[in-house]
Amino acid sequence: MLNQNQTPLLDALKACVASPHAPFYTPGHKGGKGISHLLADLLGKAVFCADLTELAGLDNLFAPQGVIYEAQELAAEAFGALKTWFLVNGSTCGVEAAILATCGEGDKIILPRNVHSSAIAGLIVSGAIPIFVNPEYDAVLDIAHSITPTALESALQQHPDAKAVLTVYPTYYGVCGDLQAIAKITHQYNIPLLVDEAHGPHFAFHPQLPTPALAAGADLTVQSIHKVLGAMTQASMLHVQGHRINIDRVSKALQLVQSTSPSYLLLASLDAARQQMAVDGKYLMSRTLELADNARTRISQIPGLSILEIPPKEGFSPGFIALDRTRLTVNVSGLGSTGFAADDILDEQLGVTAEFSSLQHLTFIISLGNTQADIEQLVQGFETIALLKKSLLRKQSLSTQVQKNYESQLSPREAFFAVSETLPLEYASDRICAEIVCPYPPGIPILMPGEVITKAALEYLQQIQAMGGFISGCADTSLKTLKVVSC
Ligand SMILES: Cc1ncc(COP(=O)(O)O)c(C=O)c1O
Repeated sequence: MLNQNQTPLLDALKACVASPHAPFYTPGHKGGKGISHLLADLLGKAVFCADLTELAGLDNLFAPQGVIYEAQELAAEAFGALKTWFLVNGSTCGVEAAILATCGEGDKIILPRNVHSSAIAGLIVSGAIPIFVNPEYDAVLDIAHSITPTALESALQQHPDAKAVLTVYPTYYGVCGDLQAIAKITHQYNIPLLVDEAHGPHFAFHPQLPTPALAAGADLTVQSIHKVLGAMTQASMLHVQGHRINIDRVSKALQLVQSTSPSYLLLASLDAARQQMAVDGKYLMSRTLELADNARTRISQIPGLSILEIPPKEGFSPGFIALDRTRLTVNVSGLGSTGFAADDILDEQLGVTAEFSSLQHLTFIISLGNTQADIEQLVQGFETIALLKKSLLRKQSLSTQVQKNYESQLSPREAFFAVSETLPLEYASDRICAEIVCPYPPGIPILMPGEVITKAALEYLQQIQAMGGFISGCADTSLKTLKVVSC
């Protein structure tokens, strides 16, 4: 057992800041002395003293032997891994590296159609061939959950040569599928289970939260420590356990997708966030769960609103067997509103900002940084929204999400690098898409390179946009045109 009170990386950074010297190395602002006063007005100067690079005593992210090695060992123990890597380019680079470390050009990987765009980037960079499995889809709520064990089993029977399975656990909505069964099936084929656990790094720290991916049998998992714990934006971790992952290949893959000048502010924030959770995690998560439960109970009593809850036993659904109660998804369709319209009012008039909105819902992340005052503001915001005249809440007809069978003649990589042309949207259907087209958040692509563009997908994207959703990933985010592979 290591001493989880220690913070070796943070301590080394502090020591470096405290040792006076004439700096002739990057970054150019030299401890904040060269910083723009505009930035200093916002951030103060202290933060720049710690914005250091790989100096003697601060170790090297790509060949760690000193304080980064020690900090990663502590993190591995705290999160239940055999080995942990600190990431400075978010879970985005972790998911890319997970695919690069397990699949080469032409290798098959099984993954859900509702993966985050970082997995599509991983396919493009690696040249792996996606075998998409449709996740379980709740048509009433218009929410995609996890892939089911049965769907995975059938994909593996059809593609026993797949090199890996990647799944998302939990989804952006906090929904968890049956990861234990998914791991068991995956391992019967002697291949690794990779998990995008971007939204679940807190699971290891409280028994009332869903089972962490590693405990459920994942071989590799990627967690955005910055999304729900106390690290700075972009700071994430990749963990592995067992024997199915080649550790050297993960290290090599991470060198391809990360900066050679990692920010020590981010790295130290990972060390501090791990220490905080290892020492006080259970208490912090108990408090967070209390805040979340308080909000759930009160908002669910407001007429016209309902909260995403785990289905009752009789409605058992293998794509939804557990829910992260700290993720609050409020359905506003009973008010005659879209999630987008309610989000606009909450954000612009009532001082409450959600993580993201969709046609029927708003999703809120409740984390260790929230307070009872935040919850009061959230509940009051919804009480106000519920009293608004219906005419103020723009009612729009709701469509169901496009559940598609991925059809392709080209791999994502081939289509991404193919000669492409730009077409007005109305001429793009039935052509092969050459770019990622993705409402953001949640960052789940509706179209991806290599995929045949359907009318339904285009209509869905236009509808999202008309209701105030933001489309990203593509060159023309106004969606007047799309890039397609030239014939
Ligand atoms: C499911 C999922 N995976 C991966 C990512 C990428 O994470 P990061 O923002 O840490 O790069 C996100 C980001 O929203 C996500 O929602």
